[in-house]
Amino acid sequence: MYTVLEFGHMASDGVRMHAYATAIARTVKPGSVVVDIGAGTGIFSLLAARAGARRVHAVDLDPAIWVLPDLARENGVADRITIHHQSSLELSIPERADVIVSDLRGSIPLYEAHLESLRDARTRLLAPGGTLLPKQDRLMVGVVEQERLWSELERGWRGFEDRGLAAAAARTAILNYPYNDDGRPVATNQVLTDAKAWAELAYGEDYPRVYDRTVELTAQRDGTAHALALWFEATILDGITYASAPGSSMVYKRMLLPLLAPVRVTAGEAVKVTVRMDVTGERWAWDTAIGGQRFRQSTFLGKPTSPEALLREASTYVPNVSARGERAKRALELMDGKRSVQEIAAELGGTPAILDEVRDYVRRYGR
Ligand SMILES: C[S@@+](CC[C@H](N)C(=O)[O-])C[C@H]1O[C@@H](n2cnc3c(N)ncnc32)[C@H](O)[C@@H]1O
Repeated sequence: MYTVLEFGHMASDGVRMHAYATAIARTVKPGSVVVDIGAGTGIFSLLAARAGARRVHAVDLDPAIWVLPDLARENGVADRITIHHQSSLELSIPERADVIVSDLRGSIPLYEAHLESLRDARTRLLAPGGTLLPKQDRLMVGVVEQERLWSELERGWRGFEDRGLAAAAARTAILNYPYNDDGRPVATNQVLTDAKAWAELAYGEDYPRVYDRTVELTAQRDGTAHALALWFEATILDGITYASAPGSSMVYKRMLLPLLAPVRVTAGEAVKVTVRMDVTGERWAWDTAIGGQRFRQSTFLGKPTSPEALLREASTYVPNVSARGERAKRALELMDGKRSVQEIAAELGGTPAILDEVRDYVRRYGR
């Protein structure tokens, strides 16, 4: 969930907005049907309506979408924008769209259900010959010098060591985790190597479950490497592009995958990097051969968990329903169109915590 202010900041990213606004003006024609997935407070919907769209379906799970009806009224387009406060994965519309516009990326485009949402929208909601905005993204990697990141990470285990305690487990977890450069943006001159693409996402095509590529980079100057930086080059429509590269001050951040230790590199030296990531951006692995050392890292080591929780993640695990699950089952049965939330909660025990729980079931599964 974002605040209305955060959506406002997205809408004030001039580079991003110029690209999207140009692409919307070029593709949305008078009479077009447009779906705006992840509309937020609806900047793309408003632009599409202003370009002459006959119907704009603005879709978002975030309640901030309820600012859009007022914004639409202020802009004289309220009669052409339909609000869908839900996931696009559950959206059905009476006619297919000529244009589907979205920006569901996090710091990089492999983020939550981004790709699945766009695959679903392309196959179910887009008219034959319709246009997807954005068209494609290229994910880039380079090695960076980032003293500030490193000292921040180091502080995560130093507190233990300062008191004479060993802290290898904390250090391992801290260094096997992805960060972004919020608050300490990577500058252009902090990129030590050239940058190469480690994945291409074409939104009009199917995608693999895992992206995995090895690239050979070359150090462009002497320096100390602290992390891999990841960013993307977007093509919103042919000829309309931008990049969230180091040095850019866009709303997107650079992802930073720390190395296991700072490493001195000299100009001309080769660095071999493998980046592996699942489509949801949940699981990462990165292998780096640099300065005569080899680091194999993974978020598997960076997200502490218990053996039991790990077992429960396996698709072969045979689960039983918990006490809370039993309550959820009963609550769903009681949601029969005859009982109020208060009455359902009373049947389940009636405590304030149960009332909150029932409200949550109603939010998720009620209508
Ligand atoms: C980065 S914001 C973009 C807001 C606005 N479109 C813009 O670009 O300024 C992404 C929004 O997408 C929403 N979102 C992500 N996946 C979605 C889906 N499948 N269906 C509906 N909303 C989704 C999130 O709730 C979030 O509000």
